[in-house]
Amino acid sequence: MDKEGKMMIFLLLMAAISSTVFGEEWKASVVKNLDALVGSCVVVPCSYTLPKEQRNLGRTGIWFRSNQRNERIYSEDEEDVLDSFRGRTKLLGHLYQNNCTLEITDIKDHDTGSFCLQIEITSTSKDFTFADDCVEFKILADPPEPILTNPKTAIEDHPHSVACSVTHTCTSHPPTLTWSMGKKDDISELHKEIKPGTWEVLSILTFTPREQDDHSELTCTATFHGEERKSSSKTVMLYVKRTENYNHIIIPTVVGLGTAVVFGFFCILMVKKYKRRITELQSRDGSRRPTGDMYMGDLPNNVNSKSCAGQKVSKPRFPSPKSQPNSCNYKEDLDDGDDCTTHIYGNL
Ligand SMILES: *[C@@H]1O[C@H](CO)[C@@H](O)[C@H](O)[C@H]1NC(C)=O
Repeated sequence: MDKEGKMMIFLLLMAAISSTVFGEEWKASVVKNLDALVGSCVVVPCSYTLPKEQRNLGRTGIWFRSNQRNERIYSEDEEDVLDSFRGRTKLLGHLYQNNCTLEITDIKDHDTGSFCLQIEITSTSKDFTFADDCVEFKILADPPEPILTNPKTAIEDHPHSVACSVTHTCTSHPPTLTWSMGKKDDISELHKEIKPGTWEVLSILTFTPREQDDHSELTCTATFHGEERKSSSKTVMLYVKRTENYNHIIIPTVVGLGTAVVFGFFCILMVKKYKRRITELQSRDGSRRPTGDMYMGDLPNNVNSKSCAGQKVSKPRFPSPKSQPNSCNYKEDLDDGDDCTTHIYGNL
């Protein structure tokens, strides 16, 4: 690297160090682009810093048309202000709190162009122009339309909410949002900055729809500040679902389920009753067969008979006790047929 190159780096380093050591210099932060509605107002957020040694000195703020320093759109001295802007501009911010926020009212379609800030130290007549931090307006002839969001179908007699929002740049006099129905208590309003200098008003209407509200129109209207009171609106169709609509589904379902439960319960009772009856009948001949009651009622009699026949074949492995020679007496009644089953299970 040659000598010149090293010198360059050194100077850059020095510049970087000095700017951090000496702290805040002349600096301004102005919103770059803003929409401005004809007839309404625009508020330009602005703040600035100045070197420490100047901080306690008296000062004034001036806003001028970019590249035309003598075309002032705001000055403390009204005489210095362009005719076309006189009486329409005001500093909303406190200059001594480093706030240079500007308000322009009754926007005209010729308020186009770029506007910049200048701070003048009164005692020394020194001034500083922030030529790189200027605001440019996009003039709107018509107000933006509100956005209406009606997310779901309303249900009769159930609270329903609909939201309406609109953007603006006139924060000193925001637009008002009104609804075609509902009382004041039904409406809540929120204001939030969606990007520097651009705000959104959000109105939420919560009401309880009635049957007669079905297929009725709901309108949200935004009315903007200004003599003309420009407005824009949006309408949605309201669909109200009747609560009765559910009954034709709910009632048969409930009735059906109820019937099924009652019927099921009845069945269980019957089964239990018959089982008990069978047990009773068996316990009458309880002396002859001490075990196996549980299997009684489950097998049809003809199976028992066959089992009985088969039993004689399979006997060798598990010989039956001699005390039960009459267990396969087919001359006995139905209950005795069941006895056979007892022994089969008992022996397996
Ligand atoms: C500057 O002043 C305006 C108007 O009074 C105010 O809305 C804004 O919050 C102020 N900005 C700061 C950074 O204090």
